[in-house]
This record gives sequence, structure tokens and C-alpha cells, in this order.
Amino acid sequence: MSHIDLVSLLVRDYDEAIAFYVEKAGFELVTDQPDVSSVTGDPKRWVVVRPPGAQTGLLLARASDDAQRAVVGRQTGGRVGLFLHTDDFAVAHRRMSEAGIRFTQEPRLEAYGWVVVWEDLYGNRWDLLGPAEPGPAGAPAAEPVRAKDPHIGEVLFSQAQIAARVAELGREITADYAGRTPLLVSVLKGSLVFMADLMRAIDGPAEIDVLAVSSYGAATKSSGVVRIIKDLDHDVAGRDVILVEDIVDSGLTMRYLVERFSSQDPASVRTCALLVREPAHGGQPDGAVTVDYEGFRLPASAFVIGYGLDAGQLYRNLPYVATYIPEP
Ligand code: IMP
Ligand code: MG
Repeated sequence: MSHIDLVSLLVRDYDEAIAFYVEKAGFELVTDQPDVSSVTGDPKRWVVVRPPGAQTGLLLARASDDAQRAVVGRQTGGRVGLFLHTDDFAVAHRRMSEAGIRFTQEPRLEAYGWVVVWEDLYGNRWDLLGPAEPGPAGAPAAEPVRAKDPHIGEVLFSQAQIAARVAELGREITADYAGRTPLLVSVLKGSLVFMADLMRAIDGPAEIDVLAVSSYGAATKSSGVVRIIKDLDHDVAGRDVILVEDIVDSGLTMRYLVERFSSQDPASVRTCALLVREPAHGGQPDGAVTVDYEGFRLPASAFVIGYGLDAGQLYRNLPYVATYIPEP
């Protein structure tokens, strides 16, 4: 049997390349020693990095003449030249994003699984690939046409990031409510999509109910005056209620609902929100509501759409969370 042991990757400098591949990409430094075969007097090093658990490694080869230096970062003429496969795409994508790796597009689900292109420090293009699971059900198969809508701004939380975070929240709730049957209350319409994914991430008995509220007017800012348009079917007395919201902004909607249900003799009331907006002044949202299960923090300034969140009732069906651009 034989396999490809090493592939050469031309680099400008050993240390900067090692720093990128080890600290950002999460590879292991397998070898770093003087290259004994070097007879030219140019002190070369034999540097091998490898993804954890992988068989094939990368030989980080310092470009030593003009011809080699000219193709650093362009060894395959701009095509994706390297393919990194991971068993857990969402986790790897999030870890690499957090480490500051540049992804040139949004992850997408193809027939062969999840894929996204990223670049190394020299611009070498890689595919990050993973199996189709885990991923949200019904994810679109290719780059959607709607991505060209000028009102849709930067994607803040991708489909894959949301799927990974929802899975984590589901595991937390599963553990916290072991032996009990929580009543998940979706606050319509915004939390509809989040609720649908979250309930399936809970591994144990759970009941659901829905509640529709409206703050007066169609303004993009919460007035704090909450109107119940559709109340629960369930009696919450004695129940372990989990309020599921899309976003806690001022926190006034959530606080109103927590107070309302708390007065109806439940066993417990907890709150879960996909997004919590960071107050401009830092600290807790002004409504002083505790969010027990928080998906992501959102910068104070961003008005967002997608994954249930709307702007004038549109964009709820985007599979990711993006900023909204009112006047492109
Ligand atoms: P709060 O009462 O200020 O916490 O407002 C919460 C509600 O305002 C959410 O349930 C959303 O319906 C709406 N909301 C707040 N911020 C956004 C946003 O960025 N995009 C879409 N809806 C938002
Ligand atoms: Mg809402």
C-alpha cells in the first residue's frame, strides 16, 4: 500500500507560514529541523504541518528564487488547490472563522456535502469540506439568487454557524430538563424558524405552543407596549416554560412575557433567544431581562434579517442572519 505523504506548499517565510497553519488553521507542526540535504549554503528547513489525525502533510517550502517567489500563493493558478475534509463542518467552520481565517463565500450544501472556500496567508485557495450532516433541514442546495438582493447586507451568522449553535443549545436544554417535559413557547412570528430547529435539537420529551405578539406600529424600534394577538392554548400552571424568541433587543417584549407567565403559577419560566443585542452602553439589555439560553450576541448597531427575522415582513425565509440595508 502507498499513500501521498507530503505535498509541497511554497511559502515566503517559514515562521509566518507555521504561525498561520498552526495557530489559525489548527494544523500540527510535525517536523521543523535543518534540511540536511541543503548543500547550497542557503539554510533551508524541513517543515511539515498536518491537520490533526491526517495522513498527508504539507511541506512548507520556502521559495528560494524569483521563479518560486512569483508563484507563492498561486501554485495552482488561482484554482482551489487543496482540499481539507472535516467530520464536523459546522464546528470547523466556526473555529476557523473565530481564528480569523478568510472565507471567500458562504458555506453551501452541495450534493456531496458542505463546502466553503478559504484562503491561507498567501492567497492559496482551499476547500473546507464536510458531510451533509449536521445541517438544517431543507437547506438550499446552491447559492441562492436572492443573495443578489441589495437590501441583504453582510452575513453575520451563516447557516452552518446557526446549525452548530442551535445543536449546542439543544444539548444544554436536554441536560437541564432531564426528567421533565418543558413547554416551549414560540413567540411568533420571528422565532418560528429558530423554534423549528431548536425543538428538534432537544433529545427528550417536550411540548410546544405558540404566542403571537405585536409591538404597536411597524417601526423598527420596540415601543415596549406589547399586545397579545394570539394567546397560548396551554395552561402554564405547574409547567416548565421556556420562552423562545428570535431576538432580545430592548428586552421589553421578553420582560413583559416573563412577568405575564410568572404570575400564572408555572413551575419555572426560562428564556431562550437566538440573538441578544449588545446594548450600546454594554452590560445587560435595558429591559433587564435574563436570557438563560443565548444563541449569539449582536452588535448594538446592526438591524438584522433572516432565519425568521423580518424587515417589513420580508426576508424571514433567508436561511442565514444578515444585516439589513434600508437604502442600498
Ligand atoms: P424588544 O422588545 O426591544 O426586545 O424587541 C424584540 C422584538 O423586536 C423582536 O422580537 C423582533 O421582532 C424585533 N426586532 C428587534 N431587533 C430586530 C432586528 O434587528 N431585526 C428584526 N426584528 C427585530
Ligand atoms: Mg419578534
